[in-house]
Amino acid sequence: MRFERTRRRRLAATLALLAPMLGLGLVIPAHANEVLIYSARHYGQEPAFEAFTKKTGIQIKMLSGSTGEMFERLKAEGERTPADVLLTVDAGNLWNAARAGLLSKLDSPELAANIPANLRDPENRWVGLTVRARTIMYNTTKVKPAELSTYEALGDPKWKGRICLRTSSYIYNQSLLATMIKRSGEPKTEEVVRGWVANQPILINSDTKILESIAAGQCDVGLTNHYYLARILAKDAAFPVLPFWANQQTTGTHVNVSGAGVTAHAKNRANAVKLLEYLSSPEAQQMFADVAFEYPANPQAGTNPIVAKWGKFKQDDSNVASAGEFQAAATRLADRAGLQIGASAT
Ligand SMILES: [Fe+2]
Repeated sequence: MRFERTRRRRLAATLALLAPMLGLGLVIPAHANEVLIYSARHYGQEPAFEAFTKKTGIQIKMLSGSTGEMFERLKAEGERTPADVLLTVDAGNLWNAARAGLLSKLDSPELAANIPANLRDPENRWVGLTVRARTIMYNTTKVKPAELSTYEALGDPKWKGRICLRTSSYIYNQSLLATMIKRSGEPKTEEVVRGWVANQPILINSDTKILESIAAGQCDVGLTNHYYLARILAKDAAFPVLPFWANQQTTGTHVNVSGAGVTAHAKNRANAVKLLEYLSSPEAQQMFADVAFEYPANPQAGTNPIVAKWGKFKQDDSNVASAGEFQAAATRLADRAGLQIGASAT
């Protein structure tokens, strides 16, 4: 009996020594009390993460970088990755991550209950956690809201020389056009973009700079994500720009998400799902959205007062996954139509 036990112990010790040589060392033991996030969402400190740790005792570790860097890292690490969660902005990026096999299925009734279906992957590999609207911004001293209506109507000749736009090289515009393609098809979307281009827009590769140009009178209207304006207004309440909710009588204003998925090879999968569930709860949603002046994805959560002041609006309710599905088509279309200066985005 004692001889058997000694033999077993010796065998275990030998296996432990051999494991790295056999490649068994690649199996990283799960650290029961942590979650490692690869994050491309950079809005400073996240109080929602601190609240999660306080509530559950689960520590959060984070590695930050651009979406491209995080993708490359996950791909290179394969099943050895220490990352449990991929957190990033734009449904187009989440869609690409899922398509590359970097995410695993989320089977969580809680996430399904907290987040509207159009803000989640139809195949359950990622979930939107905050909502951003990309809409028309206008100079309040030069434009009356009654002059505005839809994205399409920015092709009206009355806006000639008065528009600031981003190029097709940035994902935010690609996603807007991708949603249009999903709704109205390529020929119609191309007609819209050609209408904008015919108005000789000033092309600027930064949403914040577009807003500054509108305020400075360089152009009168533009298209940006809503939270860039909220950020400016938080510091300068007199900034002369307001959002106009586009397409209220038709398709609704284009919205996108920042969101997350659990990695395909997560070592702390249960904790990762628990974190996403917590981030979708009304309590965490408010904190998480507030950091970046975004809208919570969970309709039960409150909105930041600066953003709430702009009122409720009809959102385009098509699934945000179309941002990924039609991304390539949108980029080609915009390039064809001339919405391009060849510069890279910031
Ligand atoms: Fe952004």
